[in-house]
Amino acid sequence: MNVSVVGSGYVGTTLAACLADLGHDVTAIDIDEETVDRLNEGETTIHEPGLDPLVSAYAGTSLQATTDHAAAVDTDLTFLAVETPAREDGSIDPTALLAAAEDVGEAIADKDGYHLVVVKSTVLPNVIEEELVPTIEDASGKVAGEDIGIAVNPEFQREGSAVDDFMNPDKIVVGTEDDGQALDRLAELYEPLITDWDVPTVETGRKEAAMIKYANNTFLAAKISLINDLGNVCKEFGVDTYEVADAIGLDDRIGAKFLQSGVGWGGSCFPKDTAALVSAANEEDYSPAMVEAAIEINEVQPQRLLALLDDHADVDGKRVAVMGLAFKPGTDDIRGSRAKPVIEGLQDRGADVVAYDPLAADVMAEEYPDVEYVESAAEALDDAHAAAFVTDWPEFADLDDEFDAMADPVVVDGRRIVSRREGLTYEGLTW
Ligand code: UDX
Repeated sequence: MNVSVVGSGYVGTTLAACLADLGHDVTAIDIDEETVDRLNEGETTIHEPGLDPLVSAYAGTSLQATTDHAAAVDTDLTFLAVETPAREDGSIDPTALLAAAEDVGEAIADKDGYHLVVVKSTVLPNVIEEELVPTIEDASGKVAGEDIGIAVNPEFQREGSAVDDFMNPDKIVVGTEDDGQALDRLAELYEPLITDWDVPTVETGRKEAAMIKYANNTFLAAKISLINDLGNVCKEFGVDTYEVADAIGLDDRIGAKFLQSGVGWGGSCFPKDTAALVSAANEEDYSPAMVEAAIEINEVQPQRLLALLDDHADVDGKRVAVMGLAFKPGTDDIRGSRAKPVIEGLQDRGADVVAYDPLAADVMAEEYPDVEYVESAAEALDDAHAAAFVTDWPEFADLDDEFDAMADPVVVDGRRIVSRREGLTYEGLTW
């Protein structure tokens, strides 16, 4: 098929490259000329395993980039994969998405015949129905469900395995409103995944599809917060949460995944989507108490890690190592990283913070310039009076003699990543 993808950020670029790999002809559209030029040269600025080889393989052939929105509609369908950033109050800001929708709508006005617009961005149901659909209809002068189609098809990809998650999804969710043509086109688009790999397809309404994305992420975030809440209780009783989690995970109804207890969740999705859900619900005069509690527990975990440190060390004026800055291993993304409240808490206590992360130091340095960033875990631990482990980089599990260079071997572990225990004053956050 001929497909266009508006927005060449993280989601859009991955989508465009993966669709090209499925055999489609893809036009990537972005307002930023540099992004477009780089894509046409076969390059990205995104750290994502497997993405660069796809972009360089298809750039110039089945993957073309342009700044021209009119090119979007010379295709069978157009994805909107524009970012919806969070506002200060947690609500999402759909301005850029609506601007892109308007541009695409104007291009559709000049097209003869049906065109399908598919929303890939994460947007709340009311924004889709009350703002996005009217924007496209007004700009195109056409009616959704008749002359044009508007569908919602959320993504469930994780950073660090986005390409793999695209190719091997648990499900494909397609939300349409009585629009057989839209369903047919999306079925054709995903045919290799649906037919060859038996991926289940969920056919539902537009609002339901949008909500499935929020519910999916909120459920996962809340699952982690629940094991962390239970984990805090376990810690008070001297119980190892990981032994408890291993056992409860054997119950099929609970499942073993996402039960790794620790300093909490970060990233581009969980913090933003849970906050957006609460904000939108509050606007309708409903307080989703479980979701609010999940967020609150996530705020508490870094503070509990710092409190454990306080039990064993007075860090005022002392060198303290923060081990890991990325929100999870395998990425340089620090959005929502639990390292931030840990750094702030240490600085409030008067500590000299030294930090190590194999990928995320440069980007953290822009936000926290008063931290000393070093090139290795050994350098960070050298002469430190305490160390807080915040990201579960696999290399941290191998640390051993490096701890001997600490001035005081006080170690608080927020990810159960440290293997060595002998000779350390070691505290696990929930074990
Ligand atoms: C998440 C969803 O998994 C994905 O489906 C969605 O499309 C985007 O948001 P991502 O943000 O890339 O993906 O990261 P994920 O691997 O889910 O981890 C999120 C956070 O939860 C990380 O900070 C991680 O450290 C933490 N986490 C995860 C835990 O604390 N414990 C766990 O058991 C699992």
